[in-house]
Amino acid sequence: MISIYKPSDFHVHLREGEILNQALKENIAYFQKILVMPNLKKPITNSKRLISYRNQIESINKNKIKIFFTIYLNSEWSTKEIVNCYKNKLFFAAKLYPKNATTNSKTGFSDIKDLTKYFYILEKHNIPLCLHGESISYQDDPFDREKKFLEKELSWLRKHFPNLKITLEHITTKDAVDYVKENKNISASITTHHLLENTNSFLGDSLKPELFCKPIIKNRNHQISLQKIALSGHKNFFFGSDSAPHYKKLKFNNECCAGVYSTKYSISNIIEFFSLNKKTKNLNKFLSLNGNTHYGLDFLKKEISFKKIKNYKFQKLSKCGDDFLCHYNHFKDYWSKI
Ligand code: DOR
Ligand code: ZN
Repeated sequence: MISIYKPSDFHVHLREGEILNQALKENIAYFQKILVMPNLKKPITNSKRLISYRNQIESINKNKIKIFFTIYLNSEWSTKEIVNCYKNKLFFAAKLYPKNATTNSKTGFSDIKDLTKYFYILEKHNIPLCLHGESISYQDDPFDREKKFLEKELSWLRKHFPNLKITLEHITTKDAVDYVKENKNISASITTHHLLENTNSFLGDSLKPELFCKPIIKNRNHQISLQKIALSGHKNFFFGSDSAPHYKKLKFNNECCAGVYSTKYSISNIIEFFSLNKKTKNLNKFLSLNGNTHYGLDFLKKEISFKKIKNYKFQKLSKCGDDFLCHYNHFKDYWSKI
């Protein structure tokens, strides 16, 4: 048996409509707090959309868990509106997407310098900035996008806004681990799938659309670097699942959407991973303490317990509307809530 504080997931996609219903219920079962991403089909680029999305979500949540919202940072916002919304506690952090880096990012930035006036506001009001850290250039290899982002956009940001609180989201490389360790005012989130998969499991044998995500899963050396830092409990690295549901027909098609839907089994997978590596003493750091400390938040020290079920029959699909969602799982054994 293992007991941990009810975790926080600092990076989730809930979508809207029937997917929102299902994804939120799964989150309520496992998490005491979530940070919700703003890349809807019509991204959250004004206060009207922000309020409407909050209402949709809170009418299902009914205060069961703490839900923190992000805004989609682009030039559609006025700086005044951002400050007003923040002061009224309508959102918690701003999310920045490079143009065409991932799902629903076509109104992301082309040149990060164009958003300078917003970075002043975020730094001044101590509003955290969450980054999709990939530099998009069709001259470069997609596997190098994260490294290029560190060298280009992130270095520029940190030089001009040294006091901005930054989260480098869903890191995938040793380069990102080293960068975060060496710099101040920056932490990184790590997903379940980037910890547990590598290019061999993703495409070494047969290509697995269910593991296709952005940033793309990297090789074993990068994976080991992520694993070591997560297992160590280092204070600047914490859990953010980037759990991203897509309908099955959009994943298994002639084009495949980026996103791994991991919520249902993520905590089981993380417990098993820490347990196999004899590091369960650091589970609370990775799943609760580090993220909450980075964001300056309290969390409830209420424990939940799990027991291990050998050779569990994991649910691969669940029905959603007239289609399905595919659940991600890595291990054979399941840590079930007691
Ligand atoms: O794989 C991904 N899917 N990465 C992201 O950054 C976004 C997400 C989504 O929204 O589907
Ligand atoms: Zn995401």
